[in-house]
Amino acid sequence: MIRVENLHRHFGGFRAVDGASLHIAKGSITGLVGPNGAGKTTLFNVIAGALPPTSGQVYMDGEDITGLPPHELFHKGLLRTFQIAHEFGSMSCRENLMMVPGGQSGEQLWNTWFGRKRIADEERALRAKADEVLDFLTISHLADHPAGAISGGQKKLLELGRTMMVDAKIVFLDEVGAGVNRTLLMTIADAILRLNKERGYTFCVIEHDMDFIGKLCDPVIVMAEGKKLAEGTLDQIKANNQVIEAYLGTGLKNKDMEAVE
Ligand SMILES: Nc1ncnc2c1ncn2[C@@H]1O[C@H](COP(=O)(O)OP(=O)(O)OP(=O)(O)O)[C@@H](O)[C@H]1O
Ligand SMILES: [Mg+2]
Repeated sequence: MIRVENLHRHFGGFRAVDGASLHIAKGSITGLVGPNGAGKTTLFNVIAGALPPTSGQVYMDGEDITGLPPHELFHKGLLRTFQIAHEFGSMSCRENLMMVPGGQSGEQLWNTWFGRKRIADEERALRAKADEVLDFLTISHLADHPAGAISGGQKKLLELGRTMMVDAKIVFLDEVGAGVNRTLLMTIADAILRLNKERGYTFCVIEHDMDFIGKLCDPVIVMAEGKKLAEGTLDQIKANNQVIEAYLGTGLKNKDMEAVE
């Protein structure tokens, strides 16, 4: 579904992404792991149109999508979430979901004059959809809470919920599990699995928690120093000497190491 070919993204002389080539198969939940600073988020930013590449290509279903802006990728069904959740704090969780652009008629000026009934119908449908998403994520009780007042983990669920307001094909998740308690992490994992099985979403998941990766991802791609280093099942990559060295090279402070050892 996604093919990345010899992708580079440099910052001055620093090669954050340094010739990465990889595939994400349709229907998979592909894990992307690697030591801090490996270039994972930068790779996501380039694929999702937030940063132009220095060179290289990104294809989606065979179409060259290199450098397309996020809103065009959004309309093709390519969505991403952020390592740090973005929400409109004073709006309710339901309203946050209703804000996700989906071609509502209300956005066009003439519609506000000629299509009041249609806007009201669409708003009702949008509201019903938002409530369905909140229910799917088991956070219906937060519908009317201001999004700024919910927990960090619940914000991550809301981020995932934003991808469900449209017909996503592939979703890039950047550390949805970071700073989230165990129970909520498993709720997030279940939601990802259900979206994959029931709605056919393809996922690419950056995560440092190897239990989470093991529960969800096959294959797992390891990135180090801006390149793909290895790919396989979690057990295969854990047994790969180059992978162990890449993690060791960053020092034992890296908490992934405990899981890799
Ligand atoms: N805008 C930028 N300007 C300069 N350097 C940058 C910029 N963005 C990222 N980098 C550098 O590129 C490298 C890769 O960063 P990136 O955020 O992609 O890593 P990561 O694999 O997501 O790490 P982590 O697991 O810690 O989130 C880092 O050394 C970072 O300092
Ligand atoms: Mg990152």
